[in-house]
Amino acid sequence: MQTDPHIQVSREGAVQSIRFDRADKKNAITRTMYAAMTSALRHGEADDAIGAHLILGQPGVFSSGNDMQDFMAFAMSGEMGNEVLEFLHTLPDLKKPVVSAVDGLAIGIGTTIHMHCDLTFATPRSLFKTPFVDLALVPEAGSSLLAPASMGYQRAFAMLAMGEDFSAEAAREAGLIYKVVDEANLEAEAFAAAANLAARPPVALSIAKQLLKSNKDGLAARIDEEAMHFEAQLKSEEAKAAFMAFMARKKAH
Ligand code: COA
Repeated sequence: MQTDPHIQVSREGAVQSIRFDRADKKNAITRTMYAAMTSALRHGEADDAIGAHLILGQPGVFSSGNDMQDFMAFAMSGEMGNEVLEFLHTLPDLKKPVVSAVDGLAIGIGTTIHMHCDLTFATPRSLFKTPFVDLALVPEAGSSLLAPASMGYQRAFAMLAMGEDFSAEAAREAGLIYKVVDEANLEAEAFAAAANLAARPPVALSIAKQLLKSNKDGLAARIDEEAMHFEAQLKSEEAKAAFMAFMARKKAH
């Protein structure tokens, strides 16, 4: 299994937990972190002793999305690497249930990842946001297909094209997440849900999930279509300017 120091993988009973562990960088996700997550998810799918995946962050931050240094490196080199795309294609392929727990910031893929989860729990102070267009980028992870279908076009537009903040309650109302839970109970409740799912008849559960998540081929094609635009935009001058503004903001601190 491919590992990364910033992705902690553990197993308790039939639940495999994958936890972002890069709090000093707000759990920004690097190429090697994507690769470690893909590897853990595939390992979990192949292991009969594992019945559910649980995705976790840190107190106050789920993830600030893709690492901005990596974005800048992609922009300068033109070389995307395939870690991100492999991860994005792994998500809709998962046959076992996926539960996620969010406390605090969930930005970019930190938000869109939940569109592939089966149950997401979030604390009241959580904030969901996808500033793609402000970074001169475009929606990813199949979100341009999944979000309008689940929350309606205008809310999806506000989220994905305008980068509007969604509180936990707004995300729940929009159908992005399942339930708002107090900080003290977040991980216990998410774990209990994952363990509960893992205890159910796995074949029936997997079929139910596949039936509910229809249009799998369309989703895979959309992930590729988004990635084509995303990659082109990454190399654009407007994106480079946005990444530089982020770096400069840091230097000014
Ligand atoms: N990639 C790389 N590093 C990131 C990061 C990211 N996506 N998000 C935060 N960090 C780093 C910061 O550079 C900083 O590092 P430093 O201490 O070495 O300078 C550290 O994490 C803490 O971030 P900071 O900006 O000081 O915290 P904050 O509480 O003021 O703001 C965020 C937190 C997440 C709102 C802000 O960092 C941010 O907007 N990040 C970018 C989010 C983003 O646009 N992601 C891409 C989505 S497509």
